[in-house]
Amino acid sequence: MTARPEPVLRILPDAAAVAAAAAAELAALAARAVAERGRVVLALAGGSTPGALYRRLAEPPCRDALPWHRVELFWGDERMVPPGHPDSNYGMARAVLLEAVPVDPGRVHRIRGEDPPEQAAEDYERELARVLGGAPGGPPPAFDLVLLGMGADGHTASLFPGSPALTERRRWVVAPPAAGPGPRRVSLGPRVLNRARELWVLVTGRDKAATLAAALEGPRDPERLPVQLLAPDAGRLVWLVDRAAAACLARSRRTPA
Ligand code: 6PG
Repeated sequence: MTARPEPVLRILPDAAAVAAAAAAELAALAARAVAERGRVVLALAGGSTPGALYRRLAEPPCRDALPWHRVELFWGDERMVPPGHPDSNYGMARAVLLEAVPVDPGRVHRIRGEDPPEQAAEDYERELARVLGGAPGGPPPAFDLVLLGMGADGHTASLFPGSPALTERRRWVVAPPAAGPGPRRVSLGPRVLNRARELWVLVTGRDKAATLAAALEGPRDPERLPVQLLAPDAGRLVWLVDRAAAACLARSRRTPA
């Protein structure tokens, strides 16, 4: 059994530097994946943090450097709203990134937020199996990269504290009960996330500092801090954070990237 690589923590000066570092790393990862497997299979994150990264990917040099025609694009999770709704993770990526890059529309695999959550989850599982192989419930597919964020409550993707989705061991895609106000969500489950070759968690802002320190340096309690579920089977977990989010980490860890 090969040892699991140690998580990587990169602390960048600010949110713009996090986006720049992620964009540069993503370009290198995409080139490696295409060279090794002929394509790169990505899952985008929702929320606001990755917006700066998507804007960087949509402009030179990344726009012209990435092999967009070899990209299979998925999402880590989705709010159950129509694609044109301001809360749609797909809608945000479409506006900021997809309309600016030559990704093949047939290789954009969104979660259908306009459908009933359970139906959307089943359909997304079937799409994952169609594109990446395998069968729902069987060994999960391996993304080259899953981009994730972290909420101030320690959630990641749409895996929220206390959710039954946190202990899902069979389904690839979950449609957990609503975790509070706002629309229900559909999310990749823990099995698929941890099958990824690379998991990157982008965390910026002082409002996340206490939670990031608890997640990285506190006791393991994934029911309370679902982001602690991120432990790739054989892949690499990378934290890309800014100094504001790193403010509560032990001084020894706060060495800049
Ligand atoms: C979502 C995301 C979610 C997000 C965190 C952080 O759909 O909202 O998947 O997990 O990454 O809530 O959100 P911000 O980047 O907006 O802080």
